[in-house]
Amino acid sequence: MRQFSRYLAELATNPNASRGDYGPVQERVLNADGLNTARAVIYAWPGYKPTPLIALPGLARAAGIMRLYYKDEAHRFGLKSFKPLGGAFAVARMLMRELPANTKQGKVTIDDLLNGRFGKEASGFTVTAATDGNHGRSVAWGARMFGCRGVIFINEAVSKGREKAIASYGAEVRRNPGSYDDAVRKAQSTAVEENWFVISDTSEDASTQAPRDVTQGYALMAAEAIEQLPREDTPTHIFLQAGVGGMAAATCAQFWQAFGKDRPKTILVEPVNAACWLASLKSGRPIVIDGDLDSLMGGLACGEVSSVAWEILSTGADAMMTIEDEAAADCMRLLAEAPHGDAVIVAGESGVAGLAGFLIAAGDDNMREKLQLDKNSRVVVFGTEGATDPDTYTDITGYRPEDLA
Ligand SMILES: Cc1ncc(COP(=O)(O)O)c(C=O)c1O
Repeated sequence: MRQFSRYLAELATNPNASRGDYGPVQERVLNADGLNTARAVIYAWPGYKPTPLIALPGLARAAGIMRLYYKDEAHRFGLKSFKPLGGAFAVARMLMRELPANTKQGKVTIDDLLNGRFGKEASGFTVTAATDGNHGRSVAWGARMFGCRGVIFINEAVSKGREKAIASYGAEVRRNPGSYDDAVRKAQSTAVEENWFVISDTSEDASTQAPRDVTQGYALMAAEAIEQLPREDTPTHIFLQAGVGGMAAATCAQFWQAFGKDRPKTILVEPVNAACWLASLKSGRPIVIDGDLDSLMGGLACGEVSSVAWEILSTGADAMMTIEDEAAADCMRLLAEAPHGDAVIVAGESGVAGLAGFLIAAGDDNMREKLQLDKNSRVVVFGTEGATDPDTYTDITGYRPEDLA
């Protein structure tokens, strides 16, 4: 894809990448039992169905590979991103753990939560989270579905459209000065003062329950994709956008468990201004990125990696890439216009980063060689959001999402 070769991108390999089996270190974080729990809880929610895995043969041909698959999360529970699998799942898990003490019941099930059996007790709980948009929407949606209160912290850069979408699920939205990482700290300190439950998607301590639940919930997206892939198309590469890394860790872990030593190469893709994974993996330890993390890819504008994700990606990631905002914007237009005869896809800024990274790599001979991308490659990317902010989508692409659907 020569069209994408004009964008500056950095590619580095992870010096600590492992080609071994999924081992006890990784099992401690994400495992088959955890996925089974996620399935049992999430399958029970109204409207659950796997999102489509779309083959893009025209784009695959143009990029000089054998197959390209796009998992389209724009269709997840009407929230238009993969995030309900994490935040809302973690709200359910918290209530299932905490409510038995309040209700004097031995066990509280997901059906109890959905039927409002302990509605009075649940309404006494407040969940909180920091968000750049999608995670907060998911926690707010979960809080409403399970009958507790939600208070969501957003940072200065979060668009009005995204703020409104969170509030539409009945949560209180508080705008905090500074970055996403500042909002994370504010949610934490307020929760301690008010005795609320933090449903964070990131943590400095890998044993913290909520980010573990969030990450485990995300694994369902990858599990669906593996089930949907034609048997003969064993994947050779997955390109995964990373913010704090939860989505990438869950996906890497799921493919690693399914394919073992033959797992696909995992390439993390980040905005050039917020490349905390590139810096951390290069130096073999988590590194905090300072400065202006600003990016069009708001969901990826994070300066600190999640320690839960670090347990998986410190050895599970094979390579890391940074991309410019304009590459993501171009990729959104490419999916909207589908010039290679593939299906038209509506995808948001953060959702296309993995695909944009792949297209840049596919059009660059050095990167192709470094990643062993060739005419036999079978690549899977995850379109983790649709038009989560329709006005921004139209500003970037020139199209209204409803005209393309
Ligand atoms: C659409 C989208 N994709 C990817 C991500 C990155 O997920 P994570 O922070 O778990 O790396 C986010 C995070 O907000 C997001 O909103």
